[in-house]
Amino acid sequence: MKVVIIGASGETGRSIVNGLLESAIEFEITAVSRELSINSKSNDELRKLGVQVVAGDLKDPENDLIRLLTRCDVVISSVTAAALPDQILLSDAAKKAGVGRFIPCFFGPVAPPKGVMKLRETKEDVLNHIKKIYLPYTVIDAGWWYQLSAPRLPSGRIDYGLLAPMERLLGDGSVPSALTHVRDIGRYVARIVADPRTLNKMVFAYNELLTQEQIFDKLEKLSGEKLERSYVSEAELKAEVAKFEELVRNGSTDPMIIQRLWAYQYRYSWGIRGDNTPESAKYLGYLLGKELYPDMDFTTFDGYLKELLDGKARKPYA
Ligand SMILES: NC(=O)c1ccc[n+]([C@@H]2O[C@H](COP(=O)([O-])OP(=O)(O)OC[C@H]3O[C@@H](n4cnc5c(N)ncnc54)[C@H](OP(=O)(O)O)[C@@H]3O)[C@@H](O)[C@H]2O)c1
Repeated sequence: MKVVIIGASGETGRSIVNGLLESAIEFEITAVSRELSINSKSNDELRKLGVQVVAGDLKDPENDLIRLLTRCDVVISSVTAAALPDQILLSDAAKKAGVGRFIPCFFGPVAPPKGVMKLRETKEDVLNHIKKIYLPYTVIDAGWWYQLSAPRLPSGRIDYGLLAPMERLLGDGSVPSALTHVRDIGRYVARIVADPRTLNKMVFAYNELLTQEQIFDKLEKLSGEKLERSYVSEAELKAEVAKFEELVRNGSTDPMIIQRLWAYQYRYSWGIRGDNTPESAKYLGYLLGKELYPDMDFTTFDGYLKELLDGKARKPYA
């Protein structure tokens, strides 16, 4: 199966490449990278894995990309947030090239399409365009990364692997949220893109459903250390969301402000509203990975914490 990945050099992209290469299905992978990063270390690593890396410009896809995407079975986009709107041109190119299935960049927690998260809305705008041009697609959401879910330990022994430690519990810490090891995302993708049942559908593939209280309990048990628990109230979090929404509404384009808005909206969605669950996903029309692939093996959250405690975890984006 011929697959083109845009964003393969990134965090989710690397997981997807590994998942496709580990699969029993034979995938022939081409990675499209921006000219400026064509010789990056990440791309060198992809080449060592047997991936063909070519330069392409998402902002000018007409010439290069249509040729590249022709006779391609699946196109997967795992681009960084800043490049999400560029997928409109990319999907037009995929349509012209007759691509069998387009996987737009989602790979996040479940949430309703509008009114909850700005970043989600940008992804949904792309999906609406895909539907407008009748491009075959599959949306894949994966829940919240394990790598963004653990708190620090007082000893500091897992600091080396934590990207953004969860310092405070949201609300009373009792809202369940679906979590996935970033490494497993690609393994789900390999199953989903080769599955006719998932064509023109949304799929929610996650590893475990846990509350923050359960995460803190697990880390205390496995580490033998006692964790301080402090809580952010719903009202406090809502006020932070409102503050940053207003800054953006008033025209702020400061990337730091926009990222803070996304971060607070994410937390409000999965930590207070409880959007990121299989129940919400079913309501919103997703197929569930757990039902499609009951045999799927995955890293448990305990397994991830053991990796962290044993000094074997890798900090994302490092
Ligand atoms: N579920 C979660 O908890 C979670 C966590 C993080 C991210 N995500 C989601 O995962 C998806 C992919 O995010 P990611 O963090 O994996 O991506 P990333 O590592 O930040 O970036 C992926 C690639 O995008 C390419 N790119 C294209 N245009 C770019 C630009 N203007 N600036 C920088 N890079 C650009 C780069 O490839 P080249 O340099 O090779 O061109 C880069 O390696 C997003 O939808 C994001 O929302 C989910």
